[in-house]
Amino acid sequence: MDAEALADEALAAVAAASTAAELDDVRVRYLGRKSPLKLALREVRDRESGLALNTLRETIEAAVAEREAALEHAALERALADERVDVTVPGERPRRGRLHLITQIRREVEDIFLGLGYEIYDDREVETVRDNFDALNFPAWHPARSPRDSFYLDSDTLLRTETSPSQIHVLQTRKPPIFMVSLGRVYRRDTIDATHYPVFHQFEGLAVDRGITLADLKGTLLHVMRQLYGPERRVRFRTHYFPFTEPSIEPDVSCMVCGGAGCATCKWSGWIEMGGAGVVDPAVLEYCGIDPEEFSGFAFGMGLERTAQLRHGVPDLRYLWEGDLRVSRQFS
Ligand code: PHE
Repeated sequence: MDAEALADEALAAVAAASTAAELDDVRVRYLGRKSPLKLALREVRDRESGLALNTLRETIEAAVAEREAALEHAALERALADERVDVTVPGERPRRGRLHLITQIRREVEDIFLGLGYEIYDDREVETVRDNFDALNFPAWHPARSPRDSFYLDSDTLLRTETSPSQIHVLQTRKPPIFMVSLGRVYRRDTIDATHYPVFHQFEGLAVDRGITLADLKGTLLHVMRQLYGPERRVRFRTHYFPFTEPSIEPDVSCMVCGGAGCATCKWSGWIEMGGAGVVDPAVLEYCGIDPEEFSGFAFGMGLERTAQLRHGVPDLRYLWEGDLRVSRQFS
């Protein structure tokens, strides 16, 4: 065997291998068990030719190892170049989300009351019959107590039918002066149509201190209505009945569409119904351990959906619950 010729041939093959697989073939061909070199090594009988062949083997092995390292390095360089991320390429701008209209109005109402120094009170949606009805002075025969009108979980527990039980919770845990507003979902067994939905939102206000009167209620509601519907708004009270206020009233606001002249929105009356209100019934204060001889207060409750409808002309309540993004995108 011509060792020198073999060395030249092997080293040339190593240098020509351009991939790891080709290099592996070269390794098998020149260093493998059946390679001429290994076969020759097996035949060696004298020290001298053994030394020469082993030197040749080491030379080829070193060349293979060197080539292997060079190929790996080249592959890494190539990957770095090919897979480089150009961070300056303009990205795809994610579409900006918007808050649901009811959330927006809820926050706006919260801001108005924060401006008046009210505390925002987050309350529960699952209520006891006691706090939802008994403590609020609802007579035993009141239709809202019926499972036909309200969602009961069991005989003592129901989904709150109004935000008014928050009055009870606040009156039982705070000392006057109390100025709180509580906003959230309420539940009634109404059949779904354009103006009814079994879930809707209310905001409840409560003010209790010494010497609070119906006049304070009127001033407060006038301020709130003007914040929500414009500085020209006027407020009027109609007598009404609620079990937990005495006297009870329904506040109207002058129509924000026609200014009071009469139009389809206000059904040609010039006024729009806003909810319920009144002077806190002494029985409610007493139930909560507050002396009605010393303290008095007012309360009111209104709907957020109604506010949304009046402000934005939402023609059908169901739009607010269907989750169609085309609805939300209109209110930025
Ligand atoms: N809770 C009453 C309703 O849902 C509204 C109300 C609140 C009335 C506070 C008086 C005082 O109809």
